Amino acid sequence: MIIAAIVATDLKNAIGKNNKLLWHLPADLKFFKQVTMGYPIIMGRKTFESIGRLLPGRKNIIITRNKSYTVEGAEVVDSIKKALKSSVAEEKVFIIGGAEIYTQAMPHIKELYRTLVKHEFDADTFFPRIDHDQFNLIWQECHEANETNTYGYCFQKYERVK
Ligand SMILES: NC(=O)c1ccc[n+]([C@@H]2O[C@H](COP(=O)([O-])OP(=O)(O)OC[C@H]3O[C@@H](n4cnc5c(N)ncnc54)[C@H](OP(=O)(O)O)[C@@H]3O)[C@@H](O)[C@H]2O)c1
Repeated sequence: MIIAAIVATDLKNAIGKNNKLLWHLPADLKFFKQVTMGYPIIMGRKTFESIGRLLPGRKNIIITRNKSYTVEGAEVVDSIKKALKSSVAEEKVFIIGGAEIYTQAMPHIKELYRTLVKHEFDADTFFPRIDHDQFNLIWQECHEANETNTYGYCFQKYERVK
């Protein structure tokens, strides 16, 4: 099973504020859907509540320490280890955030899909620093801002080399 992560960050690795995303970029939502469709997605309880609904076509796995937390249609577990174990038969699984979950899962991440949003936002939540000795950028596709996507952005794929 390949453990992958997908994230959108600004130029300083910011990912959120007040349990919300920092931007509305339809192109990134489309990219997220395309990349993750069909694979299990693992998220922290706060990210789930920020999204506010299950994401269709994917097994939704929510991590919380609250033993009585339930969400109909989702699998709720109390550790990252259990989240990964429940998907072990899958070809690939995606860690989709937020910061607490990315940080703890980082040592296990083999593939990282990152949308780099070319702006600096006021934020309270950040993706951990990407160690470029450990991750190689293997693909990148950049786009200018336009009427629907108001910031420039690059889709990037990194692979762990060590
Ligand atoms: N830009 C992006 O790509 C992106 C992606 C995802 C999220 N975000 C943003 O990130 C922010 C949310 O991130 P966050 O770091 O605050 O929260 P989070 O990682 O989504 O969730 C944190 C929660 O996960 C549970 N948790 C964490 N570690 C655990 C462990 N080891 N065992 C069991 N449960 C554990 C706890 O839930 P309980 O408190 O219930 O125990 C904890 O409060 C929001 O602003 C969101 O919009 C951005």
